[in-house]
Amino acid sequence: MGKKDIIAAIDIGSSKVVALIAIVEDGGINIVGIGQHPSNGVSKGQIINIDKTTNDIQEAMNSATLMAGVKFTRLYVGIGGGHIETITSKGMVAIQRGNIPITKEDVGRVIEQAKAIAIPTDREISHIIPQEFKVNEEIETNDPIGMTGIRLEGNIKIITSSSYSVQNIKRCIEKAHLKNAIYVVNPIASAYATFDENEKKMGAIMLDIGAETTSIVIYEKGNLRYVGVVEIGGEFITKDIVYGLNTTRENAENFKINYGCARLDMVDDNEIIEVPGVSGRAPRKISKQEFIQIIEPRTREILELAYAKIIKESDVPIDRIGAGLILTGGTANLPGISELGEDIFNLRGRIGNPMGVSGIGENIYDPAFSTSVGLIKYAVTEEGTSESSRGMSRPQEGWIKKIFDWLKDI
Ligand SMILES: Nc1ncnc2c1ncn2[C@@H]1O[C@H](COP(=O)(O)OP(=O)(O)OP(=O)(O)O)[C@@H](O)[C@H]1O
Ligand SMILES: [Mg+2]
Repeated sequence: MGKKDIIAAIDIGSSKVVALIAIVEDGGINIVGIGQHPSNGVSKGQIINIDKTTNDIQEAMNSATLMAGVKFTRLYVGIGGGHIETITSKGMVAIQRGNIPITKEDVGRVIEQAKAIAIPTDREISHIIPQEFKVNEEIETNDPIGMTGIRLEGNIKIITSSSYSVQNIKRCIEKAHLKNAIYVVNPIASAYATFDENEKKMGAIMLDIGAETTSIVIYEKGNLRYVGVVEIGGEFITKDIVYGLNTTRENAENFKINYGCARLDMVDDNEIIEVPGVSGRAPRKISKQEFIQIIEPRTREILELAYAKIIKESDVPIDRIGAGLILTGGTANLPGISELGEDIFNLRGRIGNPMGVSGIGENIYDPAFSTSVGLIKYAVTEEGTSESSRGMSRPQEGWIKKIFDWLKDI
């Protein structure tokens, strides 16, 4: 029997704050508490009002704990915003011990060297992700431990965040009387909930399109290659509807959810919808085509901005993406968005509903829960305390964790 572990996660989004509590036992993840509260102090993924966000976190966490009826032992919190960046670095060490195989200490030295790059004082390292290693300039492997050679080289991806942004999140967590949180960037969290193993190996691009941010993650050949965030999301579509239909934000949001579609060619020519009038004015009738003409260009822009950022910043050419596109985040609920994504990326699309957990309510399988569910999955995969949960990680993660434990010790 595996040890029982109780993990909490907090996703501080631009539209909502989510708290989850999960029981992890025998490798299974069971969500036993969900709390949600509208987010009042976040803009484009970053906290702009400490008191409001603290309150929203407390409200979400109170509902989750009340529902769960258990106390959690570990807490994972997401970091959001356009300040999250990927840096590629390299480390190289000599191994002068004759025929003694490469040890985790050698790999640790490569990582330490790759890490020793200049990072501006207002930024900090959020994640270090080892990629391929090269032994003696020829053999490429994800796991060099035990191999023999005189030279070990490694590519490392370093994910950095703005220290100010992270400090603001930490302040809210502290003010909400929550302790010992571990911080994970939102894109990586969402990726843990949505990628399957084949997609990681064959290569896939995930876009988490939220309210005011779009998170990007690329996996290829089993390695996480790129993380980035564009400051645009579904709320921009809602704002366009407000102006386009001269209606309230609330009406526009309801309209988007009830009648929205990302592609003009997917809607019926003669369908008519009624726009409620503002402050007692008579309702108006418009064709659905007219309505979708407001939505399609902005949705296209969101996808195109993500595409352009990938082309500019990622070192994985799109033609090496074998599996395709994963669309998640609340805006992935917009009908036709996967098809529009297919056109723009020229990749096969699918909607990324959070996977690998069970629990109360259908809610957690909504793409809007990818980040929060992913935080729990990250906790289980990367820092699993029970043997059973550790067994769920991909092979590489086990030994990488050992190296990180060793790095922490020195
Ligand atoms: N059925 C739907 N059709 C279109 N859009 C939808 C639908 N359901 C939700 N959305 C949109 O999803 C967005 C919220 O997504 P999500 O909850 O992932 O955002 P968030 O995590 O709060 O924000 P962010 O990640 O950008 O900080 C809103 O813009 C909302 O209008
Ligand atoms: Mg989000």
